[in-house]
Amino acid sequence: MTAENKKLRIGIIGTGGIAGAHMDSYLRLADEVEIIGASDIVPGKARAFLDRYKLTDVPAFDDNAALLKLKPDGVSVCTYNSTHAECTVAALRAGAHVLCEKPMSVTLAEALEMYNTAKDVNRILTIGFQPRYDPNMDLVREIVGSGMLGDIYYIQTGGGRRRGIPGGTFVRKELAGVGALADIGCYSLDMVLSAIGYPKPLTVSAFASDKFGKNPKYFRDADKFDVDDFSVALIRLEGGIALDFRMSWAMHMDSAGDTMFFGTDAGLKIKPAGVGTGWGGAWDGTIGPVFLYNDVAGQLCETAIPLRQPSDNRFYSKVKAFCDAVRTNGPAPIPTIQSVYNQAIVDGIYRSSQAGREVEIILP
Ligand SMILES: NC(=O)c1ccc[n+]([C@@H]2O[C@H](COP(=O)([O-])OP(=O)(O)OC[C@H]3O[C@@H](n4cnc5c(N)ncnc54)[C@H](O)[C@@H]3O)[C@@H](O)[C@H]2O)c1
Repeated sequence: MTAENKKLRIGIIGTGGIAGAHMDSYLRLADEVEIIGASDIVPGKARAFLDRYKLTDVPAFDDNAALLKLKPDGVSVCTYNSTHAECTVAALRAGAHVLCEKPMSVTLAEALEMYNTAKDVNRILTIGFQPRYDPNMDLVREIVGSGMLGDIYYIQTGGGRRRGIPGGTFVRKELAGVGALADIGCYSLDMVLSAIGYPKPLTVSAFASDKFGKNPKYFRDADKFDVDDFSVALIRLEGGIALDFRMSWAMHMDSAGDTMFFGTDAGLKIKPAGVGTGWGGAWDGTIGPVFLYNDVAGQLCETAIPLRQPSDNRFYSKVKAFCDAVRTNGPAPIPTIQSVYNQAIVDGIYRSSQAGREVEIILP
């Protein structure tokens, strides 16, 4: 266990785009955190990254094993999706606690390997779903968790961007593994599943397409695009709940739908933020206007629930929650098994859309 008065020694694996947000957050925690090194498989990239932050004395590596030899207390895994599992497992086995970027991995098998390793070595593994730290996610969780909706039997979630296909490593199957489904779909799955306590997913019937990514009219690197840009799925959850999921990086529509909870006593609707505005909609799980539907004295009512003002940057809050957990020796701020269930659904949607039929989700 880390002594209360000792600075946490943190390493960063993968120094591309999102590593900067991790670094910004760790630097805000400079009184309690020390960056001890960074690594990236692209030679020189980790050095350039640290230098940008004027951390010229902090060692940079082109190989993760050399960073892990420094025995960091915690590691941020900020690599593209296809290497989350190998980097996380290596960091855990080296004795570090891990904050791994979302989605947890590409496949369920990888997610289970990560989960089992964390358990074996008794280290924290948490996945970077920063919308969890949005006060309006708490609002949704409080309303749903209060039981006021009655028995929840149907949930719709998704949203999507009108024009928002990311570039770079996100659209290449060998690096990202999965497209919009995992990139932003994992957020909307996390929003609704965390509100109902993450019941086990049982089956999935899904459809995916790539009509925009592969069309040079809508995406300049269409020849490199080989993931999904749209997915729709019906997921059966334990406890008799149907989950209807839609997610899109690009479409001729303002939204692929609101998030809705149907309960026997009331319903809750969460509109996506920034609907129809290109990259708006579901870029990071931001919550838009929230409405409650119920009967009052026999009258059908619709009530707008005022939103809460964020008190801090949620990315910073996620990094801080990780550091706090490392310092106090757990538990993981987002229970690891919940991220495994999230990944099981992503994996099931992918398998079902490939197979063109319903598939079972097998969880140990
Ligand atoms: N939470 C968020 O808001 C958010 C936002 C953007 C991206 N992400 C996630 O962060 C991850 C990275 O995204 P990005 O935009 O930074 O991608 P990126 O391609 O810019 O950076 C990934 C970096 O990882 C490096 N890398 C890959 N495999 C490696 C390995 N085995 N060892 C060391 N380095 C390795 C690459 O060389 C690259 O520099 C993705 O999983 C993505 O989904 C999260």
